[in-house]
Amino acid sequence: MELEERITAASAGEQEELAEFTLRPQSLADYIGQKKATENLKIFIEAARMRGEPLDHVLFYGPPGLGKTTLAGIIANELGVDLRITSGPAIERAGDLAAILTNLNENDVLFIDEIHRLNRQVEEVLYSAMEDFALDIVIGKGPSARSIRLDIAKFTLIGATTRAGSLSAPLRDRFGVSCKFEMYTTEELMKIIKRSAGLLNVEVEDVSLREMAKRSRGTPRVANRILKRVRDFSQVKGDGTIDLPITEQALQALGVDPMGLESLDREILRTIIERFKGGPVGIDTIAASIGEERVTIEDVYEPYLIQAGFLHRTQKGRVVSEQAYRHLGIAFDDQQMKISIEE
Ligand SMILES: Nc1ncnc2c1ncn2[C@@H]1O[C@H](COP(=O)(O)OP(=O)(O)OP(=O)(O)O)[C@@H](O)[C@H]1O
Ligand SMILES: [Mg+2]
Repeated sequence: MELEERITAASAGEQEELAEFTLRPQSLADYIGQKKATENLKIFIEAARMRGEPLDHVLFYGPPGLGKTTLAGIIANELGVDLRITSGPAIERAGDLAAILTNLNENDVLFIDEIHRLNRQVEEVLYSAMEDFALDIVIGKGPSARSIRLDIAKFTLIGATTRAGSLSAPLRDRFGVSCKFEMYTTEELMKIIKRSAGLLNVEVEDVSLREMAKRSRGTPRVANRILKRVRDFSQVKGDGTIDLPITEQALQALGVDPMGLESLDREILRTIIERFKGGPVGIDTIAASIGEERVTIEDVYEPYLIQAGFLHRTQKGRVVSEQAYRHLGIAFDDQQMKISIEE
């Protein structure tokens, strides 16, 4: 169902990217959570500013919707420089990257989303740009071809990826700082929802804040999306204030269960239980059984299922936990589970 899929899908649509803009915090002070990443960054930013130098290149990695793009914007703001945003698949040729790089001003931030999807040639141009702030350009063809080196402005590259493992080693090594994004706690998500509600001018009772936060899969993007949908319900079916009954009613209508799982999450768990005796089963087999792409399952659905304790990754494949059986109301056969793990 379209509506259901949109509510918890962690990646944003194009329209949503625009809407998200209004809810994006602009300063580190407004950026909630991710303390491990931000505390160090704060110091590096301060030091770079004092020296009038660009910040070291930074790599962000973690599941979608946890605030990577937002934090890149904040870093540029805090540095007092311009931010240029692009993405791995958008840079098709080396020339495209050269055009972007030659247009940067001193100390600017270049943000490349999905950086693991850069192609080889482009990536190679990026190496010397990151290391020496220079571009090696080949002019002419055949025997008369020669290479010239072109200096570019010193800049900071912020690369973001949902899969750090897919990054080539030479590229990974050229980042001075790397930040792992963690899922947010319920308390942090409550603060984020409260802040967004303030910006959207809606009243939310504390119990509702908690309920929405609990069902947001540790992800601010999902939290903001849930808030907006619940607000719609409260306007149409209630008096505009978001209270617990409205919240629960709205979330149920949206197909988001009390643990924040939606239909595809439940389908993944149910498939492993009913067709593969609870696992272990390989990710490709799961993907084929439910007709989803492997990467989508790995990047979008699995991180939360694992974090919440419904699914484990083992050498032999994925295994659902007893908690998953309980959540789905399926009888758990301890013996059978043991056998399948030991097999
Ligand atoms: N720490 C935070 N505090 C407050 N709001 C946040 C925070 N992190 C993210 N958000 C909100 O969540 C939304 C999604 O964040 P963002 O677009 O930065 O995620 P992302 O990690 O770049 O996702 P993707 O991997 O899909 O690009 C933003 O609109 C922002 O309002
Ligand atoms: Mg992003």
